Amino acid sequence: MTLIDGKKTADDIKREIAAEVQKMVARGLKRPHLAAILVGHDGGSETYVANKVKACEVCGFRSTLIRHEDDVSEQVLLDDIARLNADPDVDGFIVQLPLPRHIDEQKIIEAIDFRKDVDGFHPINVGRMSIGLPCFKSATPAGIIELLARYDIPTRGKRCVVLGRSNIVGKPVATLMMQKSNPGDATVTVCHSATEGLADITRQADIIIAALGRPGFVTADMVKDGVTIIDVGTTRVPDPSRKSGFRLSGDVDFDNVAPKCSFITPVPGGVGPMTICSLMKNTLLAATGAVYPR
Ligand code: GUN
Repeated sequence: MTLIDGKKTADDIKREIAAEVQKMVARGLKRPHLAAILVGHDGGSETYVANKVKACEVCGFRSTLIRHEDDVSEQVLLDDIARLNADPDVDGFIVQLPLPRHIDEQKIIEAIDFRKDVDGFHPINVGRMSIGLPCFKSATPAGIIELLARYDIPTRGKRCVVLGRSNIVGKPVATLMMQKSNPGDATVTVCHSATEGLADITRQADIIIAALGRPGFVTADMVKDGVTIIDVGTTRVPDPSRKSGFRLSGDVDFDNVAPKCSFITPVPGGVGPMTICSLMKNTLLAATGAVYPR
């Protein structure tokens, strides 16, 4: 069994990006600039955004954080977005999700200029990705593909089962895994809450990508020997023995499943660090105009 080290892989990639930025600066170009809008004080969102700001420093990017309280109006967010869309100094920006219930998340996403949508959530980027055109690929799926590539995990012709059909992970990662590319070229099945006979399907999988947000859902009896498992779950479960009062739990019963695997990602330290890394990569692509010429 090989443990896929997402932290090390992400650190390698961030070093590659930092070297690229140094070259840009040496040529007299400006540093890439990522902005983030954060609403409220959700612990998970705070951590994600803090890690994104830290990653910007490591990569040599400028970063700007715009914060609002939970009761911010939709119009104030739309005004922020209009300003960032028009600011030539900002290469890309994100609005951290989830947003409070009184705000229409889809309206917010669609207000972002797709050429600055480094999260890859805008329908134009989603659509372009699905037909294999240059675009900003959403960060978690792109990070998963990068891990498969860097660990040389064969995907062509393999049976890949995706657990979960979210717009952020399940749907886009299924799209990328079935695309005519390497990694890709897999035979993909997407399972969700209405799937019947789920364990019969997962037992046939060469690769399982679990993105349900249900701690320990995938158990040893649901997988075959030699499977590759990518665990995208990051649920906070109470743990009084920790100073924080919680620990992160993946969707896979790691201790019992890992011995059956060829490759498996841990939680934390697997997919999580790669997501942020993909965001940095998209920001670099936005700054250089490599996807959408400026
Ligand atoms: N919330 C959970 N994951 C993400 C992400 O990748 N981007 C944004 N903007 N919000 C998230």
